[in-house]
Formats: sequence, structure tokens, C-alpha cells
Amino acid sequence: QGPETLTPTGRPTGAPRAAVAQSGAYFTTAQGARLYESDHSLKAGARGPVLLQDHHLREKITHFDHERIPERVVHARGAAAHGVFQGYGTAAKITKAAFLAKGVETPVFVRFSTVLGSRGSADTVRDTRGFATKFYTGEGTFDLVGNNIPVFFIQDAVKFPDVIHAGKPHPDREIPQAQSAHDTFWDFVSLHTEATHHTLWNMSDRAIPRSFRMMEGFGVHTFRLVNAKGATTLVKFHWKPKLGVHSMVWEEAQLTGGMDPDFHRRDLADAIEAGAHPQWELGIQTFPDTPEQSFEGIDLLDPTKIVPEELAPVRPIGLMTLNANPANYFAETEQVAFHPGHLVPGIDVTDDPLLAGRLFSYLDTQISRLGGPNFGQLPINRPHAPVNDMLRDGMHQTAVHTGTAPYRPNSLDGGCPFLAGADTGAFIEAPVALPAAAKVRDASASFDDHFSQPRLFWLSMTVVEREHIIAAYTFELGKCEEQVVRERVLAVLANIDPHLCGEVAAGLGLTAPAATQPLTEPDPSPALTQIRGTWPLD
Ligand code: HEM
Repeated sequence: QGPETLTPTGRPTGAPRAAVAQSGAYFTTAQGARLYESDHSLKAGARGPVLLQDHHLREKITHFDHERIPERVVHARGAAAHGVFQGYGTAAKITKAAFLAKGVETPVFVRFSTVLGSRGSADTVRDTRGFATKFYTGEGTFDLVGNNIPVFFIQDAVKFPDVIHAGKPHPDREIPQAQSAHDTFWDFVSLHTEATHHTLWNMSDRAIPRSFRMMEGFGVHTFRLVNAKGATTLVKFHWKPKLGVHSMVWEEAQLTGGMDPDFHRRDLADAIEAGAHPQWELGIQTFPDTPEQSFEGIDLLDPTKIVPEELAPVRPIGLMTLNANPANYFAETEQVAFHPGHLVPGIDVTDDPLLAGRLFSYLDTQISRLGGPNFGQLPINRPHAPVNDMLRDGMHQTAVHTGTAPYRPNSLDGGCPFLAGADTGAFIEAPVALPAAAKVRDASASFDDHFSQPRLFWLSMTVVEREHIIAAYTFELGKCEEQVVRERVLAVLANIDPHLCGEVAAGLGLTAPAATQPLTEPDPSPALTQIRGTWPLD
């Protein structure tokens, strides 16, 4: 018994796959019948009406009518590439994941994206970038579905529809397409102050990358690694680009977007085609897996917090090289389906409430985006490990399953045996103790600190970077029509830093409010107004 298809593709990275739909020397119908031409409909005489019996006309137009699939509900615009990942073996003591062992090479497919714009929007807008990696490992597919910003807007997935509704274009005019400069976005992030940290990164140069090749990537959540003995370690994943991190300045991003809305996807494809294969090191920050799941007072389950690299250095565990462009955008970049629940033995999730919602959301949305539950059979989504599941039938089923009894145990055709025990290479959830607790719709008090890390980020910025952040807030809030929203954002900025708040308020012609919370540490640098005289661009 067992599915007869879904074998590993065995395809070398990036090599074009056999063209199943375009073989043979002659033009044919979809059923393989030869046609002698395709430029004229069948008519009753050269100037007469078109006949309904023209099956070729109907087949061609019907297929065309259904060429588009729904774009992703978020991250609709993307560009992707094939590559290879090589493990350094440096994580071998803390994870049994075989693809991280020394020297193991694993094919990967990476999709970079913007979050808010539609599929046809411009590349160089101010936005978070997606950085999603599919590792086709011998133990099953592992997806690291991350962003280029290490924190997220919200702490609980139940707010995800809300933050996206606030960030997407206004429902009446569908404006603006891809920028954060409108009232609903600023209304949301000033009412939900947990968004302050991510928003500050968005107003920094990180949100206008020079190139996908020059972006960091972050798994954002804390994950749990499991070694061969069952011991667990908490980790945060980081991608570090070999080319370094580079951004555009705002004017450059605007001009580039106007002249070449495809700038980032062109840059990626051109570089790979020219043999300038971009590389990233995968690294981890590691933390002891204690019942508190916090490190140096930082809650590891709160996705609005980072752990500074000074406290927990990023240790490299492997190298990724992107070396081939997709052969077909639709088949690969559009149809690829990432999912944070695609895990392999040795990598498990934590109880971050944002991650919990993601574990539900991706498969659910892909059933609608990719037309049913069988999109895992699409070439780009096929695991490179043998698949022997008991899933059957459904829309767009392409496997011809054999056997009579897709359940187990069964006494008819043997079924597919489970092998019990840790030595079988099976994915076994880490047996983490749960706290004794009552059901609540609430979060822990450690989730209440919304300003200390934004302040840390602000204090780590250079003078030039601060100028850019001030200019970004001033410009974006300048597009806000509601005074009450601008004033509420200024109240948030006051809790990050008085200089930041004062400069943005001055730019908007408003009065800076005072902080409502104590600032965690004094700013050691002089106020920007004191150094303005030496600012080269003034
Ligand atoms: C898509 C990252 C939070 C729902 C994506 C993609 C990335 C991403 C990179 C694009 C995948 C691709 O290229 O195909 C993240 C990160 C998050 C986050 C880093 C927070 C740390 C969430 C949450 C939800 C969610 C909380 C829902 C509860 C979705 C959905 C898609 C998506 C529905 C579209 C998937 C598809 O159509 O294939 N996300 N996301 N995300 N994300 Fe998230």
C-alpha cells in the first residue's frame, strides 16, 4: 500500500524540471489532439457569426479566464530563488535535526516579499519584508517563515486580522497601495502600543532595504531545539547576509520605485544570473529552557521583544547560497506554500501566542489560495523525503494511490506502520510541562512593557539614522488626516524619547507631549538640535 506518486523530485537545485505540459513537435489541444491553427475562430463563413461548436476557442478562453489565483492575503508581492544550505555542525549538540549536521547539503527555496502591497505593487516601499525559507531536508520539509525585522506588531494572533485591516489600503478608495502612511495604520499602532517597537523599525532605514541580498532575516519567535538525548534549548534564528545590511535613503527609494517598480526582484534575478550568488549565514541565539522561558528579564514568548546580541551572541550554524532563479514565476514563486508548522525532528515550537495562531493560519489560507488540500503535491511544495501519509482524494488530487485500507492498524493490506520510539527519526513533540492554570483571555504581565525596547533601539541609532527616523515619522504622519491620531502617536513617541517626540512634533507644527512612563535609561548622546549645525545635509 501507499501513494504511488509524491516521490522525491531528485531535481538538482534550480535545474529546469521536465516540461510536462509542453512536449512534442506539434501544437495541440489540452487533450493532445493536433491543431492546424489557433488564430481564427470557427465561423459560418469568413464574415459570419462564430459557432458555439468551436471547442478549441472555448477551451482556450475558458482556461485563460481562470489563469489567476487569489493573491496571498498578506505578503502578496514576492520574488524567490533556489539555493543550497550547508550545515556547519555547530548546532549538533543541541539539535538532532540532520540537515544542521556538519557538511550536509540541503536544497532550499527562498521567497522574499513585502507585506502590505498587492501582487503588482512597487518593491521599494517602506514596509516589513518577508524572508521565508523552505529547506527540503531528508527528514521532511522545514520552513523558516521569517521577516527582515526581528519583532512583530502584536503579541497575540487574535489581533492579526485587525493589524492587517488597519495596514491594508482604505476600503473606500483602496489608497494607499503599499505604504503605512494613513490614518487606520497610525490609529491602530497608537491604540495598541505593543506595536511601538515594530513601528519604530518600520520608520528606520531597515524598512527600505537596498536589496533582498542585503537584508537580515529573523525567525522572530523563540523556537525549541531538541537533541538526540531529548534535552531542549530555546533559540532565536537569524539570517546574516554576507554582503552586509544596506538600505536606501527615502528619496532614493521613492525615485527608484517610480523608475523601476520591480527594482528588488530585478536585482535578485540579475545577480543570480550573473553568478553573484547571494549568501547568508544562519545563526542562533541560545537560551536555557527554564520554566520561566525568559532570559535576563526578557520574556522569550513575547514576539515584540528581541534579546540584544550583546547579551546572547548569534552563533553561526550554516551557510545558505542562492544560486538559481525560478524557471516559472507562477509554478514556483506564486504556488509555493510556506508554513511555520512544517517542522522536522529536532526543531519544535514554543507557546508564543502569536506563533500558535500562525500554526493554524497558513494551512487554512492556502486551502483557499491554492484550491483545496492537495497543494503539497505541486512540484515546488513536494517534500524531498518519502511521503507515506493516509490523506486521500480531495480537490486537485494528482496522486494515484494504491492499496485498499488507508487507515491503521489494518488487517487487509498492511497499512503504513508507525515505528514507535525516539530512535526512529520520528517527530516527537518535546514533552514540556505546562503550568497549572485556569483558562483566561489575558496575557502575562511581562507583555505589558511596550517602550523599553523601542527606546533601546532608538538609543542604538547613529545621528544619521535618527535623522532618517524623524523624517520618516514626520512624513508619514504628515499624510494622516486625523489630528487626534497624530497627537496619540506623539504621546507614544514621548515614551520612547523626548528628542524624537520633540523633533517630529516640530515637523508637524504640534506641541510635544510629556512622557507618561519613566524612561528606562538616559540618552548619552547630545540632542539632535545641538548637533544640527554640523549635519551635512541641512
Ligand atoms: C504569509 C511572516 C505573523 C498569517 C507570510 C509570509 C511571511 C510571513 C514571510 C510570506 C510567505 C510567502 O512568501 O509565501 C510572518 C511573520 C510573522 C507573521 C514573521 C510574525 C512573527 C502572522 C500571523 C498570521 C499570519 C500572526 C495569522 C494569524 C499569514 C498568512 C500568510 C502569511 C495568512 C499568507 C500565506 C499564503 O497565502 O501562502 N507571513 N507572518 N502571519 N502570513 Fe505571516
